[in-house]
Amino acid sequence: MGTVLRQGGAHVGRLIRAHPIAFTIAVFGSTMFVSAIAIAAVVIGNITDDVIIPVLDGGEPYADLLRPAVLLIAGIALYKAVGIIIRRVGASWLQIRSQMDFVSRLIHHQYKLSMPWHHGEDTGDLLAITDNDAGQATFVLGPLPYATGVSLLLIGALVLVTSIDVWLGLVALISFGLVVTTDVGSAWFIFGGFEKLQRMVGDVSAVAHESFDGALTVKAIGAEDLEVERFSRVSNALRDQRTWVSVRAESFRTVSEIIPTLGLIAVIVVGGYRIEAGAITPGEVVTALYLMSLLSFPIRLIGFVTWETTFALASWRRIARIVEADDLIHHGEMDPSGQATGTEVSGENVTFSYPGGVPVLSDLGFHIQPGETVAVVGPTASGKSTMVSLLARLWDPDHGTIQLDGRDLRDFAERGVSSEVTIVPQESFLFNLSVRENITLGQHFSEEEVRAAADLAQATPFVLELPQGFDTVVGEQGATLSGGQAQRIALARSIVRKPRLLILDDATSAIDPSVETAILTGLRDAELPSTVVLVAYRQASITLADRVILVDDGRIIATGTHAHLLATQPVYSDILTAYANV
Ligand SMILES: Nc1ncnc2c1ncn2[C@@H]1O[C@H](COP(=O)(O)OP(=O)(O)OP(=O)(O)O)[C@@H](O)[C@H]1O
Ligand SMILES: [Mg+2]
Repeated sequence: MGTVLRQGGAHVGRLIRAHPIAFTIAVFGSTMFVSAIAIAAVVIGNITDDVIIPVLDGGEPYADLLRPAVLLIAGIALYKAVGIIIRRVGASWLQIRSQMDFVSRLIHHQYKLSMPWHHGEDTGDLLAITDNDAGQATFVLGPLPYATGVSLLLIGALVLVTSIDVWLGLVALISFGLVVTTDVGSAWFIFGGFEKLQRMVGDVSAVAHESFDGALTVKAIGAEDLEVERFSRVSNALRDQRTWVSVRAESFRTVSEIIPTLGLIAVIVVGGYRIEAGAITPGEVVTALYLMSLLSFPIRLIGFVTWETTFALASWRRIARIVEADDLIHHGEMDPSGQATGTEVSGENVTFSYPGGVPVLSDLGFHIQPGETVAVVGPTASGKSTMVSLLARLWDPDHGTIQLDGRDLRDFAERGVSSEVTIVPQESFLFNLSVRENITLGQHFSEEEVRAAADLAQATPFVLELPQGFDTVVGEQGATLSGGQAQRIALARSIVRKPRLLILDDATSAIDPSVETAILTGLRDAELPSTVVLVAYRQASITLADRVILVDDGRIIATGTHAHLLATQPVYSDILTAYANV
């Protein structure tokens, strides 16, 4: 129990330390509000004694007295309202800024994490953490300044009751202690269930994300029932868990709300004995009862904040799993050479397996000359995409090294490799941005550069026919484009960066052979100083390469010219024949 509260407190403390000014402003507003309540109690008492009673008793004219009294009450109301506004503005600022901090830390850190880390994560769950947990981890900051302010009221009331009578003070303290114990105990008891609940929110989000993403497949296959069933399963489990948490939470809350009432009864009973003993007057017992009734609200608020603190901790643990993950991509110090020539690429003893999987690449060795165009050919699932993704350092080899111009990819500084190497993946991904923005993707390129890249990718003719040409927004994942059009924009995105190594992983598969040949010929003839590695199947594309690397079952089984492999490698001719017959 201590651990949960200690860690929860530490989490809240960190949030406050990040924005001390907002917290101070909110607490200041809260103190104004609380002091307004106390001042109002005193002022109304005085007005009763000095204005109302003399008027009632003596029939004195009240017109002169009324105005200052009304002005005083209005002044206090205004002071209280200003206090409320300051508290709310400060608390909202604190909460929203903290939530924004989490969201931006989550997004930034995720990009620094390596592929093995991403490999084990569900997109939907990551979304739930970035949205739901980032909120839940900070909600406690909303009521916290208020609770801090009313705690002062609580302490003041306890001191006053004790100053009236020590025994009554003891009753107040015990009743307060019991409420706090119940709240803390229940928060601890429910914590595990709440952690599970947040995980389940992630599960529902993961299934929902996958379902929406795969809507086309679901509809095309008529798999709606399966998806509804899958979704029902996780959402029913979430509902049951929410019920579990709510039933327990409400039961404990009822108990902790009854305790102050029992405390009042105890004050009456103990007060009665104390009056009999002649220690205090009935008026003093009434004052103590009034103060105790004032306590019941702050006590509830403190319970509420205790709960929210543990809920915040549960969400923070999910956030921490990401922002404190140290599965980072480690970069070296070396800057890219920046030369305007194709790079030399080599691999030595490269072995690789995906996390938890069997080896996919075994002991690869290869050497690609600067400016050379090399085709990687092999049967499906032989490891071609894996091999080329290692060249772009999307993954690191388990053993062996991959080098650009004799320099290990791991020694490059951050973004060093991506400034020398670009890869057009097998499945192109377009953002819901304009064609131009999809090509430039946040970097500055001149209009001529964008045009030249689009020309080389054979994209310009169809782009110009789009309603707003290069400014046409392409929809989520390029929904408004055909597969071949999307591939050409993805290709232009790589070409415009003038990489020293351009990797095309079957990047022209959805483009008809004549356009594909035009693209590859264009790349060869352009003054683009790239080394090109292309994963290809069609003979027309392969013959444009200077050399072929033949891969089978994660090994390089031969390298050489197309004619040489055709003559010596039956596997090679089988693959080409199979594609020629399609
Ligand atoms: N992300 C991944 N996690 C686990 N295993 C993977 C992953 N990607 C690929 N594999 C496995 O690695 C092997 C090689 O896959 P890879 O995608 O490199 O083949 P490929 O030669 O490009 O095939 P294709 O011609 O179908 O594109 C396959 O057995 C595949 O199941
Ligand atoms: Mg592949």
